[in-house]
Amino acid sequence: MAGDYYLGLDVSTTATKALLIDKTGKVIAVASTEYPFETPHPLWSEQHPDLWWNGTKKSIQTVIQKSGATPENIRAIGLTGQMHGLVLLDESGQVLRPAILWNDQRTQAQCDLIHKRIGREKFIQISGNVALTGFTAPKILWVAENEPDVYARVRHILLPKDYVRFCLTGEYGMDKADGSGTVLFDLKQRNWSSEILDALQIKSEWLPPTYEGSDFTGVISKSAAASTGLAAGTPVAAGGGDQAAQAVGVGAVEPGIVGLTVGTSGVVFATTPSALIEPEGRLHAFCHAVPGAWHFMGVMLSAAGSLQWYRDTLAVGSSFDELTNEAQEIPAGSEGLQFLPYLSGERTPHPDPQARAGFIGLTIRHNRAHMTRAVMEGVSFGLKDIFTLIRDSGLKDVQQVRASGGGTKSPLWRQILASVLDSELVTVNTTEGAAFGAALLAGVGTGTWPDVHTACRETIQITGRTTPLARDVPVYQRSYNVYQELYPALKHLYPKMI
Ligand code: XUL
Repeated sequence: MAGDYYLGLDVSTTATKALLIDKTGKVIAVASTEYPFETPHPLWSEQHPDLWWNGTKKSIQTVIQKSGATPENIRAIGLTGQMHGLVLLDESGQVLRPAILWNDQRTQAQCDLIHKRIGREKFIQISGNVALTGFTAPKILWVAENEPDVYARVRHILLPKDYVRFCLTGEYGMDKADGSGTVLFDLKQRNWSSEILDALQIKSEWLPPTYEGSDFTGVISKSAAASTGLAAGTPVAAGGGDQAAQAVGVGAVEPGIVGLTVGTSGVVFATTPSALIEPEGRLHAFCHAVPGAWHFMGVMLSAAGSLQWYRDTLAVGSSFDELTNEAQEIPAGSEGLQFLPYLSGERTPHPDPQARAGFIGLTIRHNRAHMTRAVMEGVSFGLKDIFTLIRDSGLKDVQQVRASGGGTKSPLWRQILASVLDSELVTVNTTEGAAFGAALLAGVGTGTWPDVHTACRETIQITGRTTPLARDVPVYQRSYNVYQELYPALKHLYPKMI
């Protein structure tokens, strides 16, 4: 009964998800296995790689069972997952310590050291980025400094999904999108930078070969076949870090079509035709999972998370629909009320862990509906900040914004975003994000689609369009001008607010 299927596997921070699609892009079955992460000290965030491998085995077995497919129906597998996490293995491939995750914040001193050793400007020129605590390179230096016994035994450095790749195929390998997120990459060359590795005294033989997203890096081993239910010999594609695979999954694969995810955090993802960088490193600049392409990315830490916090704290017991229905009645600009969304500090465009959120401009006339609308508008302005940086960095022509994530389920929020960004906002039929993108990359690897663009064109359809409201665009431009002045005006006070 079953035909040719492609399996996307997403090794995320909260779960490992297996997704099976056919060659029309139809989702055949999904299975997910959840797990926790640990915070053994303030600022730390760790997870044991066993959780990913156990989750992988369970999710793959379940997805095969649910779909009624035989193992032979699955033509290829594509991997994706949480980016930047540090996995250290010894000579025999044994895990040396729990992985240090993307949301771990312990490495500010190591980031400073990287900039000092290489020179901040030079580091940005080579890697395309500043060293941030979330990225992999400073985590390696932290282990070298704080756990020398562990460090002495390191022979392999991997990222989370690439540990699962190792378990599935026995091969060490990594895709270029995730590789560039280590910030040990020469961005233009799309490979490890010997200059950065030498300066940080990291041995190049510890790092795996890197591949374009649709290249195969190995095949399912006999032992992995026995423990997952897959057929031995099934090819495994490189895939991509979760943001790059998510972009493939919504069709943000060419300059001009920008991906916008409004989840707990907010991500703006813009494909670039060459290795463009923002000279001060305020945007992330990584390789795309699309072979030969690059991308800019900006991350806002509290996007839909701001509205969630607001509801849970100031509007307990109200549903999101109730709140947004009220806010619908308030005019654009919330009669001068502004909300700064820095509830968890910020990453883009202000890499400032001490930044604070706030309502500014309250008068006695403002009520709850104004406050709800101001939260949605403030988050939209924060996202516009990222678009502004992207435009100023050379990507002038944004034709379409492809929106996904929980926040964009609200028609009001989509309308606010379209008017604030002054751009058409579209939604698409694919809601399985990164896992879907990874499955498409696997299909490109088998030749089912000749390239990633064709794969996206043939499987992803636009399901909704929101255009800017002519009357609101100038109102939002004026509000945004005020918003832009607030962070610089308040910045010097944040360190004193303890
Ligand atoms: C991207 C990033 C997060 C993680 C979460 O730079 O840090 O998106 O990949 O999974």
